[in-house]
Amino acid sequence: MNVLLLGSGGREHAIAEKLAQSPQCTSLFVAPGNAGTTLCGENVALQPEDFDSVGDFVRSHSINMVVVGPEAPLVGGIADYFANDSTLRHVMVIGPSKQGAALEGSKAVAKEFMLRHNIPTARHRSFTRETLEEGMEFLSTLKPPYVLKADGLAAGKGVLILPTLEEARVMLCNMIEDEKFGAASSTVVIEEYLEGIELSVFVLTDGRHYKILPEAKDYKRIGEGDTGLNTGGMGAVSPVPFADKEFMQKVEHRIVQPTIKGLHQEKIDYRGFLFIGLMNCGGEPYVIEYNVRMGDPETEVVFPRIKSDILSLFRATWERTLNQEDLDIDPRTATCVMLVAQGYPEKYRKGRVISGLQRVTSSRIFHAGTILNAEGEVVTNGGRVIAVTSLAPTLPEALLLSYQDVDCIGWQGKYFRHDIGQDLLHYMMEHPHQP
Ligand code: AMP
Ligand code: GLY
Repeated sequence: MNVLLLGSGGREHAIAEKLAQSPQCTSLFVAPGNAGTTLCGENVALQPEDFDSVGDFVRSHSINMVVVGPEAPLVGGIADYFANDSTLRHVMVIGPSKQGAALEGSKAVAKEFMLRHNIPTARHRSFTRETLEEGMEFLSTLKPPYVLKADGLAAGKGVLILPTLEEARVMLCNMIEDEKFGAASSTVVIEEYLEGIELSVFVLTDGRHYKILPEAKDYKRIGEGDTGLNTGGMGAVSPVPFADKEFMQKVEHRIVQPTIKGLHQEKIDYRGFLFIGLMNCGGEPYVIEYNVRMGDPETEVVFPRIKSDILSLFRATWERTLNQEDLDIDPRTATCVMLVAQGYPEKYRKGRVISGLQRVTSSRIFHAGTILNAEGEVVTNGGRVIAVTSLAPTLPEALLLSYQDVDCIGWQGKYFRHDIGQDLLHYMMEHPHQP
């Protein structure tokens, strides 16, 4: 099978590695890819959101399957673009239709969907310029802190959590009237604050059947102890110790099943990943958000734990026969530490030469923001640069390996968090009887 993978991050390197391992994979192209994905396949200078160019490449290279990594092409309707073209219709696209992708593309659409299907989530209402006054009144019915969300895609920055009613009111005005997040905040979702611990649950679905992939926890803030600005993710751990069997059963029955059933009932073509951001509130799961893709860096801990042939799973996703597939998971713990450029998530430098990659022996390296320069050296090319992932029988052992190997890699201005997984180690000490 000839496969084209769209995207360029650590997530795509981890997916590319798994695809390249499949005996069914004849050739793998990654567009645009990074320095790491060249080790798994051939990089192609194409932008995933340029559907015409992607379509031309698919035709000229007899591509059988397109795997979509990031959300933007999905929200833009890449699956529909293929479905509506008689020369591309036969190509297996792994990723939902535009209607399905609206679960990530619009928070209001996602919340209405959850409401229709009785899926537990924070109480909410959506407001626009016309209903701003009602929004102000709704705020005063809630208890602090106040959660305000830009409806559209805002690169993970569109959620504000504000301690006082005064600040929440000012921000609601900023978002709607002054378009703080551009058009993404012309509609704002205001919701109840959920107190608890977060985790990410990943589902592969063909729109009828599903497989629950390993869950993961990511570390979103730039600073140790979960402080400072939000990032795309500074590290991840899978499995998550507090996601025990009982909790995961609640997730499956109350959230995964009604979600898939809802998609089916509403005739939404959904063949791809569903990433459910959850809050564990005293043992009860609530949905914070849906994403219609895998997480990054969660993929860097989830994919190394999948033992089954990913191409078989993807083919079955397309053919709507996922119920006939087995999913074999490595029981070991995977930890990932993300190495980033000093200054990220704000201003940072690119083009620094990265050394020591070949000294890493006990972990896998997934490239995120890297590129090969004219001399063939690997240089930094983004904020999140390299993910170091280790597998071991226990969390402390995996963390030890990750941090040993983090020290092998260097460039001017390397930064990482030293405390990935520490909260989970504390949890395990306090709950010694859980697996
Ligand atoms: P989202 O973009 O919806 O994932 O939100 C970003 C982050 O804001 C989440 O990962 C949570 O940490 C936090 N958050 C979002 N919604 C809520 C909520 N209702 N209660 C508490 N925290 C929230
Ligand atoms: N790590 C969070 C995300 O991919 O959205």
